[in-house]
Amino acid sequence: MNPIEIRPGIFWVGVNDRTTDLFEGLWPLPHGVSYNSYLVVGKKVALVDSVKGPFGEGLLRNVAQVVPPDRIDYLVVNHMEPDHSGALPLLRRVAPRAEVVATKAALPMLASFYGIRDGVRAVGDGDRLDLGGKVLSFHPIPFVHWPETMATFEETEGVLFPCDAFGGFRALDGALFADEVDFSLYEDEVLRYFSNIVGMQSAAVLRAIEKLNGLPVEVIAPSHGLVWRKDPGRIVELYARWARMEGDPGVAIVYGSMYGETLAMAEAVAHGVREAGVPVRVLDAGRVPTSFLLRDAWRYRGLILGSPTYDTGVFPPVEHLVRLLERKRLKNRSVGLFGSHGWAGGALRKLGEKAAELGWDLVGEVGFAGAPTAEDLARGRELGRAVGERVAEGVRT
Ligand SMILES: Cc1cc2nc3c(=O)[nH]c(=O)nc-3n(C[C@H](O)[C@H](O)[C@H](O)COP(=O)(O)O)c2cc1C
Ligand SMILES: [Fe+2]
Ligand SMILES: [Fe+2]
Repeated sequence: MNPIEIRPGIFWVGVNDRTTDLFEGLWPLPHGVSYNSYLVVGKKVALVDSVKGPFGEGLLRNVAQVVPPDRIDYLVVNHMEPDHSGALPLLRRVAPRAEVVATKAALPMLASFYGIRDGVRAVGDGDRLDLGGKVLSFHPIPFVHWPETMATFEETEGVLFPCDAFGGFRALDGALFADEVDFSLYEDEVLRYFSNIVGMQSAAVLRAIEKLNGLPVEVIAPSHGLVWRKDPGRIVELYARWARMEGDPGVAIVYGSMYGETLAMAEAVAHGVREAGVPVRVLDAGRVPTSFLLRDAWRYRGLILGSPTYDTGVFPPVEHLVRLLERKRLKNRSVGLFGSHGWAGGALRKLGEKAAELGWDLVGEVGFAGAPTAEDLARGRELGRAVGERVAEGVRT
């Protein structure tokens, strides 16, 4: 996309990435992602955040449509993760006068990632940089997403550049502003980004929201995804809700199954959830990438896990999800368990122990040998209904 002036003198000059398969080498990108970079043009010129290394030329092409790149006076590095800092070596070559502006915590990273030691200005909380006609101020928001991260605020236009905070997966399909698109088409990818990338830092996200609340923000311009110029409170509220881990009334059923016995039970459990009047999603952990399972576990307050017993334990793709949820510290879930076994079982006991460890509310479980009987399926339906009712809290759809 060409540069877009988001407010007078403030330009989006980022790039879409539609070719990287896995973000952070881990999370699938079926709809791509954008690395948003912003030019703030006063008498002096600042570039806020850059892009992943291989996309540096695209960034430069956009910058050059607004100002000659060697006119950049400041390279503001909100965050050192290479999806935003990777183009720094290139930028230093084309804009050799430019001073790098970052938090003190970023200095050792600038040195270790890029060998950048000179021409660096460390800024702290509330420090300001007058560009002549535009004024930047800096606000550390540690651990959203790394310890060195800060948000930059342009005071004359009220534009907040919070880097990873309030961002999402999905490349920009011709439109930059959230008010230009049907956001319901984007929300899944924003939630997947939140749960995969910053969810583990939810406490830091809530602290950042509280801190940035003090600024007179009119536009939120994150470094991935859509820019919020109308109703920026909407994305803040979504992030806050996800960070509080409340979960919507609804249930994600995540199961694995080798020969279809646990799958047959998943169908009965889903039917039961539906009878409780809340939304339900059924996901096969063996086929759906964990990234998407994590998203739906984060979305709903109810989580029902189905696993056959496999080598005395939990079926590996289900176990992988649970490990990730533990790593991401997901709380406040009402949980049900079900699964088939051949002889001694064991998967449900292990899942139950994990649920207790994570402080989840275990509503019930349905274990069975071999194929589920009609009676087993009725118990499964009851389990689904019980979890559905637990999370419904008066909300019916
Ligand atoms: C590789 C493998 C390992 C298994 N390990 C166990 C086990 O340790 N304990 C047990 O009770 N059943 C075990 N089983 C039997 C399955 O749990 C049983 O076949 C179950 O019905 C499979 O359900 P599913 O069709 O939903 O996958 C194992 C099956 C396979 C194929
Ligand atoms: Fe990041
Ligand atoms: Fe990022």
